[in-house]
Amino acid sequence: MSNEKAIGVFDSGVGGLTVLSSLLQLLPGEKYVYFGDTARVPYGNKTPETIIHYTRQIVEFLAGKNIKALVVACNTVSSTGLEVIRDMIDIPVFEVITPPARAALQASKNKKIGVIGTRRTITSEVYQKVLTRGDSSVKVYACSTPLFVPLVEENILGTALTRQVIKYYLEDWKNNIDTLLLGCTHYPLLVPDFRSYFGRDLHIIDSAHQVAQEVHFFMKKKNMRRINRSGNVQYYISDPAGEFLYFARKILKHDISKYCARLDLAEKE
Ligand code: DGL
Repeated sequence: MSNEKAIGVFDSGVGGLTVLSSLLQLLPGEKYVYFGDTARVPYGNKTPETIIHYTRQIVEFLAGKNIKALVVACNTVSSTGLEVIRDMIDIPVFEVITPPARAALQASKNKKIGVIGTRRTITSEVYQKVLTRGDSSVKVYACSTPLFVPLVEENILGTALTRQVIKYYLEDWKNNIDTLLLGCTHYPLLVPDFRSYFGRDLHIIDSAHQVAQEVHFFMKKKNMRRINRSGNVQYYISDPAGEFLYFARKILKHDISKYCARLDLAEKE
């Protein structure tokens, strides 16, 4: 039965685990297959051609796992390769841009929204377009913040250096925006740092919860959920050298090493 099939989730590295964590809360009975391209992270500084090439390989791999839906848990891929993905597979594909953009518009009172993301996501202007589509008076402040991904991947969080990098990129927004949209799935790990820099009143919106809600709503409406069953996750990463397992424990609150295998997509080229 097709409800028994898994949900595919992927990112360039650990960032997509923030989305997976929210999915596990809302849809705990599902089977998931997660792929983190840890050998080739970061994606955000690469050309669209390269990102699309990586995306094709990952989607091909996940499609081979006979999945019923795919969650593109990466803003860089969502802003660059969505059409390619939708041409490749005929199952529901969820991206991480529209749901948080909608939430940011709802949260903002002064209509001044800051968006941060990888270089690729910001230069694609996808957030700028989605945020102003229904209301041209919305002012979008967009900044690519590529140093945040290595800070997260290196676990340099809550330090003076982290604060300095936030100041370097975002100082001008301090008394301006009332909502900060985290346009990269790695950034939720920096929320305490953003909070301490900007203060309590800033609305901080990330993709994880919003996207999981969207998937949940869709699955329920279409009767696609795997109900009254216990779920599981199979993890694949393309290189085990980094901090993937450490972050998985931190984000998902348990040890996943038993369920994690190596899959080197570059070997298949
Ligand atoms: N987590 C990813 C995103 O949401 C990409 C980070 C990267 O690989 O540059 O954009």
